[in-house]
Amino acid sequence: MKIGIIGTGMLGEAVGLHLLDVGYEITVFNRTKEKTENLKKNGAIVVESPKHVAENSDLVIIVVKDADAVNNIVFGNSGLMGGMHDGMCIADMSTVNPNSTKEISEKVTETGIDYLEIPVMGGPNVAIKGKLVLMASGEKIIFEKFKKVFDSIAEQSFYLGNTGTAHSIKLAMNLQISMLALSLSEGITLTEKAGFDPEIFLKVLNSTYFKTGMSEGKAYKMIKENYEPTFTLSNLKKDLDTINDAADSCNIELPMAKLARKVYSDAKNAGLGEMDYTGIIEYIKKLSEK
Ligand SMILES: NC(=O)c1ccc[n+]([C@@H]2O[C@H](COP(=O)([O-])OP(=O)(O)OC[C@H]3O[C@@H](n4cnc5c(N)ncnc54)[C@H](OP(=O)(O)O)[C@@H]3O)[C@@H](O)[C@H]2O)c1
Repeated sequence: MKIGIIGTGMLGEAVGLHLLDVGYEITVFNRTKEKTENLKKNGAIVVESPKHVAENSDLVIIVVKDADAVNNIVFGNSGLMGGMHDGMCIADMSTVNPNSTKEISEKVTETGIDYLEIPVMGGPNVAIKGKLVLMASGEKIIFEKFKKVFDSIAEQSFYLGNTGTAHSIKLAMNLQISMLALSLSEGITLTEKAGFDPEIFLKVLNSTYFKTGMSEGKAYKMIKENYEPTFTLSNLKKDLDTINDAADSCNIELPMAKLARKVYSDAKNAGLGEMDYTGIIEYIKKLSEK
């Protein structure tokens, strides 16, 4: 089983390093070549285009920013379609709109190539240990064919049915992330401005039913103003755009998703986009300084 990875940003690099670690042969491509250096040092084959990745892989995992990037990688010049061959499968791990996924999947599968969507929960720190949570949609038989690889990437893999389902659930998951980071930001700010140590707030929160992984983990970094990115604020804002687009296309009102998009968008415009998404607390604090 030869695996290709296209997109070696924070998440793609970590997935690649883990797959190398457990013994897979990996061929990689990234638009900005410097971001493949660590993988090369660890044994990955670095090639010049998605087409070359396709030629050398049975399963090609795409981990890029958005649906436009995925489209370009699959169908663009020197794209994956140029290197397609029997038995090849494209699996998209990027967080994208379910409608875009359906269109891309339809166009790919018409050519005889298999397509799965495999969005994940968990960042690079989790991916490097093979402990992501993976949600898959597409043909079940194709999911089963590559399940061994997915079991290596993730400690839990969910097969969720028809194309579009996994990305819909992933969007619902990222809505939780955006809200949790906001409510922690406001809770910490409120406690601090009232003159109390926010660690006391976290200690009490984390001894209740309302604790989360975020309140037990990243919240302590937020207090220490450590926003080293594992998932950028800019990418979460991109996901909130997608969540709102998805809500519009289902004709539903999600008032908090709309508000969250505005807050993250304002924070990005204020120059916080490359911070970790938990840097949203800096934006919340700045609002009180006005
Ligand atoms: N980090 C996480 O915790 C996490 C968790 C789950 C899902 N995700 C999703 O996984 C995807 C990647 O996230 P990340 O954290 O690795 O982001 P990242 O570090 O910002 O990396 C983004 C990747 O996308 C590539 N890219 C962007 N626009 C492109 C284009 N037009 N054509 C080709 N490549 C393009 C970048 O290439 P360059 O290097 O050339 O810019 C880079 O490889 C996103 O969809 C994100 O929402 C991330």
